[in-house]
Amino acid sequence: MIILGLMSGTSGDGIDGVAAEFYDNDCFKFLWHKSYKFSERQFTRIQRLIKSATAETITLGHAYISRLYTEACISFFENEKALPDYLAAHGQTVFHHPNIAIWDELELSGTLQLLDGFLLSHLTKLPVIYNFRQADMAVGGQGAPLVPFADLKMFGKNIENKKYRIILNIGGIANVTILQGLPNGSTVKCAFDTGPGNGLMDDYMQLNKLGRFDESGKIASQGKTIDDVLKFFLADPYFEQDPPKSTGREYFCIERIKDRLQNISFSDCMSTLTDLTVESIFRAIKPYIYNTDELVVAGGGALNVELSERLRKKCLLSNVAVKTSTEYGIPVMAREAMAFSILGHAFLNREPGNLPTATGASKEVVLGSLVSVC
Ligand SMILES: Nc1ncnc2c1ncn2[C@@H]1O[C@H](COP(=O)(O)OP(=O)(O)O)[C@@H](O)[C@H]1O
Ligand SMILES: [Mg+2]
Repeated sequence: MIILGLMSGTSGDGIDGVAAEFYDNDCFKFLWHKSYKFSERQFTRIQRLIKSATAETITLGHAYISRLYTEACISFFENEKALPDYLAAHGQTVFHHPNIAIWDELELSGTLQLLDGFLLSHLTKLPVIYNFRQADMAVGGQGAPLVPFADLKMFGKNIENKKYRIILNIGGIANVTILQGLPNGSTVKCAFDTGPGNGLMDDYMQLNKLGRFDESGKIASQGKTIDDVLKFFLADPYFEQDPPKSTGREYFCIERIKDRLQNISFSDCMSTLTDLTVESIFRAIKPYIYNTDELVVAGGGALNVELSERLRKKCLLSNVAVKTSTEYGIPVMAREAMAFSILGHAFLNREPGNLPTATGASKEVVLGSLVSVC
């Protein structure tokens, strides 16, 4: 069975698709990864959906994202002989509210991924598994992170007993999965969002019309970090919070911090924001680092040479080798879409895909819903 995992993250850079083949014996094989990049116009519209949505734009946004996912699928299927049997689609997150809000004495939390599974299924003529986060939230979880279940399957082999292996994803937000070796296998010790990934850097670049992102971290590499500003940003209470925890772009956004960046050069700001990402990741993994065999990095941040180099230097001081997921056969931009393909397979097997240690849910539940309008 082939399942195509489809993911568009909070960076709004595009849709990643990963086809994986699943066999009866719980084995699977990565087949291919392709990307559909959002045009400038599509990117701007998605940013507007995130920052200033109305009931009307959200309603139409579901159809819009489904159309973009369909265009992505059509481009992915070109030259492919074997089409997938299922789509496992994440959708586009526009708001994530895992913490409890009180309305009329009622406790509420929620997360919104735009995607109309019915429309996507109709347009692609394939059954669609989607709505992956809702079941976990229904049982008190944060609905995130969901990739740890898949990280264990992708990267959990051959970890020495009691040792940790840290899987780090640097997307718009950064998150880690801490795997731990056991005498007969391995387990997920914990997993959580560490804070900003590329998001604040991307925001800053866009705000100042410097481009969508800092290619290879070139601008940051020309700057100098402003220590007192970095210290101020690192005092954010999110970094002190114990896991389970998750966050979103509505919290770590440039609007909240831009006043502190006034009268500082572009390159110094980018250097400071790069260090904010590196430092907050490093602080989050510090409790595990001395017993860790390797740090496996994935996500677009792995392509930011300056950020990767700063992180690598810090890890080397603690004798931790830094690898990329590509060395495990999963290209850095493919890890999350691959995870949703694995979660789609778990859904079909009625296997729970959330880990209460990671999301804070009260129990394990099967994630997703299946629709078919073929
Ligand atoms: N060549 C590159 N140099 C620097 N940064 C990059 C490069 N390619 C991608 N990125 C960064 O990665 C981000 C996309 O990463 P991704 O893992 O897709 O995040 P998300 O899951 O939030 O969409 C871009 O917005 C950009 O910040
Ligand atoms: Mg992306």
